[in-house]
Amino acid sequence: MIPVFEPSVGEDEVEAVAAAVRAGEISGSFGESIPLFEQEFAAYVGCSHGVAVTSGTTALQLAVAAAGFGEGDEIIVSASTNIASALAAYHNGAVPVPVDVEPDTWNIDLDLVEAQITATTRAIMPVHLFGHPVDMNHLTEIAREHELVVIEDCAESHGATVRGRMTGSFGELSCFSFYANKIITTGEGGMVMTDDAELAERLRLLRNLAFQKPRFFHEEAGFNFRMTGMQAALGRVQLRKIDGMIDQKRRVADTYNRLLADVPGIQTPVERDWARNVYWMYSIVVGEDFGVDRDELMTTLQRRGIETRTFFCPLNMQPCLQRQRGFREVPSPVAEELWRTGVYLPSSISLPDETIAAIVEEIDAAGRR
Ligand SMILES: Cc1ncc(COP(=O)(O)O)c(C=O)c1O
Repeated sequence: MIPVFEPSVGEDEVEAVAAAVRAGEISGSFGESIPLFEQEFAAYVGCSHGVAVTSGTTALQLAVAAAGFGEGDEIIVSASTNIASALAAYHNGAVPVPVDVEPDTWNIDLDLVEAQITATTRAIMPVHLFGHPVDMNHLTEIAREHELVVIEDCAESHGATVRGRMTGSFGELSCFSFYANKIITTGEGGMVMTDDAELAERLRLLRNLAFQKPRFFHEEAGFNFRMTGMQAALGRVQLRKIDGMIDQKRRVADTYNRLLADVPGIQTPVERDWARNVYWMYSIVVGEDFGVDRDELMTTLQRRGIETRTFFCPLNMQPCLQRQRGFREVPSPVAEELWRTGVYLPSSISLPDETIAAIVEEIDAAGRR
């Protein structure tokens, strides 16, 4: 089976993790690896502070908590995203408000945002889906006008840029994931970035059960979202390789784009002229004029040993959110259509061009059957 992704972790990483274990950096409280990884990744993104946590999910949850949003607050989110984006609001008692996406970048449609802003809207969470950035200059203008805090979900966009500036450097807060299938990984892990020293302090406090003085007396209800030193050691080695990894992601995308251009009925990813897409997962949309529908294509590819995955189920269709008091099922026809027709293909950086060619041949043949 050709998997949708294979992590790229080598002997350098193994040695770094072993060294961290030998140095006793096994928890989230000791050693140099965590602060060093935080500083190095913050420098890469172009932010002043990084706070390493256990996952992208907890990074988002912590960011919303540190910003002080909860019951009675609404947070605008792209409708087509991992449920984690919405749960960051949900688990803080705030209500996520889905906004439909653009049919080509698959990112939040900024023309639809203002219609969803109410007196209780506090923040907006752009998600840079599959590695294509949201137009953060435009989004920041909207946020400024309506006094909304911007919390970027960069789980899929390490290294993606908007007019040359890194995703993650625009929002008051931005959140990354280092899950195994992300551009760089720590196994499980995440990080919240900010330029605001006070917010960074608050993130650190809440990450660590809000320990204060005297110890074991807690004014606030915090979380244990600490990343371990072993993971940070792994992340530091991965970070040194990030440029090469992104080059490979772009090579994989170029090859697919070139070969799929001749396959009728397949919509390929775009890259706006102001954007650098890092093609986290190479995604396509199966059109009406392709010979079979998306599900049939996926079944055929599965039989041929090619793993694929659908796009995300839109937030307005998620039962766990529909049951939340105050949740608005904002219709998201584009995201709903993408849920029916979108699929992502094997996207590992180790994928040779010949294998990509074989995958495209299978797609072409499936459409002609
Ligand atoms: C857009 C988006 N946000 C958040 C997450 C959550 O990240 P994690 O899996 O590290 O919790 C993911 C990931 O998988 C994601 O794709």
